[in-house]
Amino acid sequence: MGLIDMRVLAISGSPLKNGNTSRLINAIVGDLEKSDITDLKVKEISLAGSLIRPCKSCRKCMKEGHCVLKSDDFSRIVRRMKKSDLIIIGSPVYFHDVNGQIKNLIDRSYSLWHERQLKGKKVIPVAVCAESGDDRTLETLKIWAQAQEMKIIRTVSGRGFKAGDVLKDKSAMNQVSDAAKSVAGEVKSEKNN
Ligand SMILES: Cc1cc2nc3c(=O)[nH]c(=O)nc-3n(C[C@H](O)[C@H](O)[C@H](O)COP(=O)(O)O)c2cc1C
Repeated sequence: MGLIDMRVLAISGSPLKNGNTSRLINAIVGDLEKSDITDLKVKEISLAGSLIRPCKSCRKCMKEGHCVLKSDDFSRIVRRMKKSDLIIIGSPVYFHDVNGQIKNLIDRSYSLWHERQLKGKKVIPVAVCAESGDDRTLETLKIWAQAQEMKIIRTVSGRGFKAGDVLKDKSAMNQVSDAAKSVAGEVKSEKNN
């Protein structure tokens, strides 16, 4: 890993650039930055304004090893995913599940699944709802991570309707600090091995 202890990619699927999902993810990143991980490189991607087309089921990725759909933001995000050690992937809850942007991203990552190109990467699934549906949303993200043979460190979920509300959710903030501690613990135990 060179001099950098950990490369983190934080993806917020919300169409609101500074909505609850981004803020909850930023809280995790903030705690990671305060942790004793000595060298952290963080890249944040908001899917607000990004275009991720749906999977066409052309199945060309089975042979090519990558998605052949061009002219959208998917390949840029994949490049980042491949470079990172930890992926924080957050979705706003829409009708008790991930939103469309995140679903498209997940489905297009079928192209990475055949050769398990994300295998072993650490992941923290994140979900924010107003009232309910976060559990089912996290389940979708966890099933994706498990299928990709990634290592789920923790999940984080929060409640909020208006942008910023989630930062007042005490349970969410506790989960944030637990998640950051778990990541730091992982880095330490990897160093000792
Ligand atoms: C299309 C749509 C569907 C939603 N569905 C749910 C839902 O099923 N359950 C819920 O508690 N909140 C639901 N919400 C509220 C959002 O999950 C909530 O406002 C969340 O904080 C949005 O995150 P964001 O600010 O990052 O976009 C929905 C919002 C939208 C726009």
